[in-house]
Amino acid sequence: MPKPIKPQGQPTRGKTALNRLRQVDIYICLAWRHLFTGQNPLIVDVGYGEYAWTALEMHSRLMTINPNIHLLGIEIDPVRVQNALPHTNPPQIDFKLGGFNIADILRDKPATLIRAYNVLRQYDESAVPDALAHMADGLAEGGLLIEGTSTPTGRIVAFDVYQKQAGELRHRQLVFGTNFRHADTPTEFQAILPKRLIHHAYEEPVWTFFRIWERGLALARGAGQYRHRRRWCYAARYLHEQGYGVNTHKPVMGRGYLVLNNPLFP
Ligand SMILES: C[S@@+](CC[C@H](N)C(=O)[O-])C[C@H]1O[C@@H](n2cnc3c(N)ncnc32)[C@H](O)[C@@H]1O
Repeated sequence: MPKPIKPQGQPTRGKTALNRLRQVDIYICLAWRHLFTGQNPLIVDVGYGEYAWTALEMHSRLMTINPNIHLLGIEIDPVRVQNALPHTNPPQIDFKLGGFNIADILRDKPATLIRAYNVLRQYDESAVPDALAHMADGLAEGGLLIEGTSTPTGRIVAFDVYQKQAGELRHRQLVFGTNFRHADTPTEFQAILPKRLIHHAYEEPVWTFFRIWERGLALARGAGQYRHRRRWCYAARYLHEQGYGVNTHKPVMGRGYLVLNNPLFP
């Protein structure tokens, strides 16, 4: 009989909320849809929490690109796996006990997308490189790994997008997302940075990036732009002019995403 696989990681709080990761899902559909057009792409939600809501929502949203997408939810907490089991419908939807070492579970079917959201925030910063490397082992060439944080309701989100290229995990984007319901301040995003950045939020060059973003928003007001969306786009363009690699493509920026094409911190 094969030896049981030891999940990599530690159990953490399982708080989640309906639609909390909506903006992450929409961003994937908007910016990376070309990755999901193959046969039965596999998406993995690592650490979906007390309820499987966000994993199931991710599946429904990505199914609009390809109805043959398969979802695997992975949890390190056995009770949370039990809670999710009524939603299984293999091979389309499955839930399994596991940790960051998802390659041990996937074996011969690597994932097109792995998302670990609001998971690493409860770990030490020193655990980040190993956790990312373990998850990357389960990615297909060209596949994405998303690691990020949100507010409890998901009103604002901040996440890193990594891609497996030539066998290596490369940082591709740092994304900030809003639903425009409030006049979000850069300081609020500074408080929900991905785990690799959160402890450096008050260090350079991270600090300066947020102050320049603030200046962009203030200048927008000075230029007579008062609507949240307009100010957001104005500030994105300002950041771009200041030399930050910001995506000023309207469908992305105007939908509430500030996308930096660099990691902002070594
Ligand atoms: C705060 S919840 C996040 C739920 C959901 N992703 C969200 O953003 O709403 C974090 C979950 O990650 C799980 N977790 C922590 N480390 C894990 C690991 N190494 N592998 C799988 N699940 C893990 C915890 O058991 C917990 O249920």
